[in-house]
Amino acid sequence: MAMGTPSYSNLRLLTDFLYLISGVTCAYFEYCYRFFVKPQMKTLSQEIILVTGAGTGLGKAMCVYLAQSSPKATLVCWDINGPENEVTVKTLHCMGVQAFGYEIDICEPAAVVKCADQVKKDVGDVTVIINNAGFLHRTEPFLNLSPVEIEKSINVNFTSQCWILRQFLPQMVAKNSGHVVTINSCQGKTGCNNFSLFSASNSAVNGLIHSLKSEMRRESANNINFTTVFAGFLNTNMVSNKNICFRYPSFQPRILEPDEAAMEIVDAFRRNEEYVFVPKRTSECLSLLSHLLPPKAKAVINDIFGVQSVNIS
Ligand SMILES: *[C@@H]1O[C@H](CO)[C@@H](O)[C@H](O)[C@H]1NC(C)=O
Ligand SMILES: *[C@@H]1O[C@H](CO)[C@@H](O)[C@H](O)[C@H]1NC(C)=O
Ligand SMILES: *[C@@H]1O[C@H](CO)[C@@H](O)[C@H](O)[C@H]1NC(C)=O
Repeated sequence: MAMGTPSYSNLRLLTDFLYLISGVTCAYFEYCYRFFVKPQMKTLSQEIILVTGAGTGLGKAMCVYLAQSSPKATLVCWDINGPENEVTVKTLHCMGVQAFGYEIDICEPAAVVKCADQVKKDVGDVTVIINNAGFLHRTEPFLNLSPVEIEKSINVNFTSQCWILRQFLPQMVAKNSGHVVTINSCQGKTGCNNFSLFSASNSAVNGLIHSLKSEMRRESANNINFTTVFAGFLNTNMVSNKNICFRYPSFQPRILEPDEAAMEIVDAFRRNEEYVFVPKRTSECLSLLSHLLPPKAKAVINDIFGVQSVNIS
């Protein structure tokens, strides 16, 4: 081969490298543009939206806001607590919205299969999943948690999401259309004393969703959108203004009401945003910043913004 003629593999390296650079550059430009110019919200009129944990707190607030903002959508409400779920469904009916309630323990794979089949018969194919149901273990150091509490945390917050996705994702892939919204928490990005399994299960969900997105891109099911919500503390049954106490009160984040959070979440997924931080910018900045800081600085920030105690009765 003559001197100076690039060999096939060098050419390949060059084209691959250009592909990488152009992809990353485009993504940066889009990110900056989208920071200022938000896309239009999509309409949810034709959608069948499944909300887990619809009986109380954030789940209920999201159902109500969905009903207000998209009265033609159909809502499917799942909760382990039948009576509370019925109250949500009745509220939605009073607002003139089509809603169906199912009492279900999402930790039981067989129950999820059965309930999903029932939903398909009663309502049709679910096109939007909002994985919201959660359970907070006692906020205690890891070594104080019992095996039952450990298993329950992982089952409610991680494994249950696998059962649900297994039931509803195949129809979305077949149609190459759908949306999966995951309610995660800021703890899923780091970790915090007394929240060990909470962080662990949230990180597990994160890994699952990242992998799913990558699989969907490969299957050319690229019209299935994913939104992950990193929520801070909300004033709900699990945690509230009354039982939470911060180590450095001057850095205490604002504790949002569930209906404020619900508005931010629903509006963001209607704009097909991939990541949503609630409350908005502060936690997003902290999270971006934390990737740039040395580990000890991260620990300082983690402690300063950390919780002193939560009393869950
Ligand atoms: C997914 O998001 C893209 C924009 O990011 C949008 O063009 C597309 O219509 C969305 N698909 C669904 C099913 O919402
Ligand atoms: C499970 O996830 C929900 C929603 O993010 C959260 O509020 C709950 O505390 C989590 N529970 C555990 C045990 O991780
Ligand atoms: C963690 O648990 C210990 C022991 O129960 C308690 O003394 C402490 O206040 C808790 N801290 C947090 C952040 O909940």
